[in-house]
Amino acid sequence: MPPRKRVYSGIQPTAVMTIGNYFGAVQNWVRLQDECDCVYCVVDLHAMTGSYDAEELRHSSREMFVSLLAAGIDPERTTVYIQSTVPEQTELCWMLATLTSLGDLSRMTQFKEKSGLLKGELAEDSGTFISAGLLFYPVLQAADILAYRSDCVPVGQDQSQHLELSRGIARRFNSRFGYLFPEPETLHTPVTKVLSTADPTRKMSKSLGPRHYIGLFEEEDSIRRKIRSAVTDSGVPATGGAADEEDADDRRASPGIENLLTMLTACGHAADAEQMRANYFTGTLRYVDLKGRTAEALVTLTSEMRERRADILRRETDLDGRIMEMAGQARAMAGETLALAREKLGVFQP
Ligand code: TRP
Repeated sequence: MPPRKRVYSGIQPTAVMTIGNYFGAVQNWVRLQDECDCVYCVVDLHAMTGSYDAEELRHSSREMFVSLLAAGIDPERTTVYIQSTVPEQTELCWMLATLTSLGDLSRMTQFKEKSGLLKGELAEDSGTFISAGLLFYPVLQAADILAYRSDCVPVGQDQSQHLELSRGIARRFNSRFGYLFPEPETLHTPVTKVLSTADPTRKMSKSLGPRHYIGLFEEEDSIRRKIRSAVTDSGVPATGGAADEEDADDRRASPGIENLLTMLTACGHAADAEQMRANYFTGTLRYVDLKGRTAEALVTLTSEMRERRADILRRETDLDGRIMEMAGQARAMAGETLALAREKLGVFQP
C-alpha cells in the first residue's frame, strides 16, 4: 500500500464556530481523516496581523480548538494544534522568508486588498497602521504547510495564490539546498457555501449579527427559530443559475430556497433536497415542509456535536495542559523538518 498522503490545513480562531465554517471547511477535514494523514492547525499567529484584543485571541483559539474536536476531528488519528504552541514552525518561517521574493509578496491580492494598495494608495499613507505581518502572512502559511512536508492542502479558492507561493518557496529551497519539501498541491474538494438565512444574498457571517448566522453548537430551539424565519422569496434568482435553459436540473430557485436546500444536502439528505427542488419547480413545494425538514436535519446533525463539546469541557479540567500535550506531537514532526532544514541551510543545531 502506498503511504497515506499528508494533508494540512489551517483555520482562523473564532470564539463561535458557525455551520458556515463547518459545511465550508471542517466537515471536509473530518472526512479526509479516513483516507489521509491529517494535520490541522488553529492559526492564532495569523490572526495577529490586524488590531486585536489579546485575551480575546487566546479565548478564541481555545474555543476553536475545542470546536474542532467536538466537530469530529479525532486526536487519535489526526494531529491538531494551536499554531503558537509550535515554535519550530515560526523559526522555519524566518528561513523561508530568506527564500521569498519581496516582489512576490507585495503582489499578493490579499496583501494588496488589506493594505489598501488595490485602491491605489497604501492605507498607511492615510494614517492606518499596516503591519509588516500582513506582508509576511503567506510566508508563515508556507512554513505551516512545509514544516509537516505536506502533500495536499484543502483550502478555498481565495487561498490558491498563497498555495502557489508555497510551492515556489519549496521549489527554490529544494533546488538551492537539496530536496526537502514536496510541492504542496491545492486540494479542490467540493465544499458548501452557506448564506445568511436572514439575508440570503450574503454569505453567512458573524459580523452581520446574530440573526445572520447559526452556531454549530447552538440550542435546538434557536436553530429551529432561525430556520423557521429564514427568508425564502427575495425576488432575485440565485446567482449561477441559467434561467433560460431548457434542462430543469440546471434551474435555480430563489437564494433563500437554494440555501435551505444546500443545508439539507450538506446534512446528508441529498435525495430529499432533490425531490423538494423538483417540487419547487412544479409549484407543489410547501415552504413549511422544507423548513421543517431542514431544521430537523440540522438539529440531528448538531446535537451530537453539542453533546460532544459539553463532554470535552466537562472532562478536560485542564484544557491548556491538554493543548500543550497535543502540541508535543506537532512539535516532534516540525522539529524533525527543522533539523533537516538547519543542516541543509548551513546553520547550527542548538
Ligand atoms: N490563510 C488561511 C485562511 O485564511 C488559513 C491558513 C493559515 C492556512 N495557514 C494555513 C490554510 C495553512 C491552509 C494551510 O483561510
